[in-house]
Amino acid sequence: MEVVITTTVEDAGRVVADVITQALRGGARVLGLATGSSPLAAYRELARRHREEGLSFAGVRAFLLDEYVGLPASHPQSYARVIRDELVDAVDLDPGHVHGPAGDAADPLAEARRYDEALRAAGPVDLQVLGIGVNGHLGFNEPGSSLTSRTRVKTLTARTRQDNARFFTGADAVPRHVLTQGLGTITEARHLVLTASGEHKAVAVAAAVEGPVTASCPASVLQLHPHVTVVVDEAAAAGLAQAEHYRDVLEHKIAGQGY
Ligand code: F6R
Repeated sequence: MEVVITTTVEDAGRVVADVITQALRGGARVLGLATGSSPLAAYRELARRHREEGLSFAGVRAFLLDEYVGLPASHPQSYARVIRDELVDAVDLDPGHVHGPAGDAADPLAEARRYDEALRAAGPVDLQVLGIGVNGHLGFNEPGSSLTSRTRVKTLTARTRQDNARFFTGADAVPRHVLTQGLGTITEARHLVLTASGEHKAVAVAAAVEGPVTASCPASVLQLHPHVTVVVDEAAAAGLAQAEHYRDVLEHKIAGQGY
């Protein structure tokens, strides 16, 4: 696992954009995309690189991590719509090649199985972008999620509904159920890049990176994966005991090592 600590959120966004750019230039054809606030700086930077530097997503297929049960893709807070607004429409990603679990499926349990199979057929994902919940969730795998779980319906914790209330009219308006890739599904991607910023993420980041591997902190499953890049600003890195070492590693990288 490589941990990159940046001074600002914008710098973190540029590093995540570098990781994605490196993957695209290296031939990545399947991207895994997270929604929420964490990847927004990176998505803005990718949009700029597309506009000003010709970075292209042509031929790329993208898969979302999760979706709220009950929200159609047309709902402003559905993740299908959010990713369109925040990234797809700003670059040359073909909207027909951006896939997610259907929140309004008549049978969410069957939809979870369908999506998992679609991912398996299209995968492996070359690069998966991830955020982390303040409770250590990855995708919407809340604490207690099996580290080998597949895509399925999960129930959000009260804490997550509270955290996401800012996107709705209040916590009660946040759907209770979600469809999420499982931790086993997510970790089939070849390379995982997790980004977080702000002091409210510091405890979760430290637990995920340096704590025990446990279902109580779902993001700790990253420690079992051979290729992970964690990009955090200083506030989110505040709980990392090995921060100085991570900085040292970054400063003394061997030429061509990449991310
Ligand atoms: C979003 C997702 C979630 C978020 C996490 C952090 O697709 O899977 O795990 O990454 O809840 O959310 P933000 O980035 O809004 O703090």
